[in-house]
Amino acid sequence: MKKKLYILIGGLIVLGVIGGVLIHTSTFFSGRVSMTFDRKPAEASATDSLGHPKAKNGKKVLVAYFSWGGNTRKVARHIHDRIGGDIYEIRTVKTYPDDYKACVEDAKMEIETNARPELSGNLPDLKNYDTLFLGYPVWWYAAPRPVMTFIDHYNFDGKEVILFCTSGGSSLSETDREIMEYPAMQGANFGEGLTANIEGDIDPWLARAGF
Ligand SMILES: Cc1cc2nc3c(=O)[nH]c(=O)nc-3n(C[C@H](O)[C@H](O)[C@H](O)COP(=O)(O)O)c2cc1C
Repeated sequence: MKKKLYILIGGLIVLGVIGGVLIHTSTFFSGRVSMTFDRKPAEASATDSLGHPKAKNGKKVLVAYFSWGGNTRKVARHIHDRIGGDIYEIRTVKTYPDDYKACVEDAKMEIETNARPELSGNLPDLKNYDTLFLGYPVWWYAAPRPVMTFIDHYNFDGKEVILFCTSGGSSLSETDREIMEYPAMQGANFGEGLTANIEGDIDPWLARAGF
């Protein structure tokens, strides 16, 4: 009798865990969710000798981000509005499907094959910056592959790199190890990253980073 009870309780726990995972994943794999952020005007910032604006704390900062649906773009702009510096959107030659489910499938294929989609436009010169804020949406518990293509273009020796992401529930810590352990990133100094799904978390995080 006792054994049957244990089996029943064990079964319920397993079902609960599976159910929780399914509800969690189906939420963010079923459709896009838009975040709404208030934008506040940027503070005036001084420029360096090359004309690149310095951030609030005197550092030369680049906020680079990839965004498919606009959430990460909103966060990147918020960061840029608050601290100054330059902002750059990572774009690809290929166009990701507008349809959410089709995009999810496309991204799945890219993650599975560890693809490096070609980037479009002129890439910024990292030599002009001390600090790189690098942002992306979580795609299949990882950074989108265009972010890896972006990283491939640089040497990060001595650069401060601060990661941030938006997601449907996953956290940055599910994705940052790949980037932090990536060979090109070995010379970088990583600051505290942020899962930036809650607007109110951003300014305190920037303050902790010294901005
Ligand atoms: C292809 C794809 C894969 C996704 N994978 C995940 C995931 O693994 N975990 C998660 O929490 N959210 C996932 N999401 C949800 C996005 O991370 C989330 O909506 C994010 O804020 C979108 O940012 P964006 O609007 O800048 O593209 C995924 C969305 C897409 C389109």
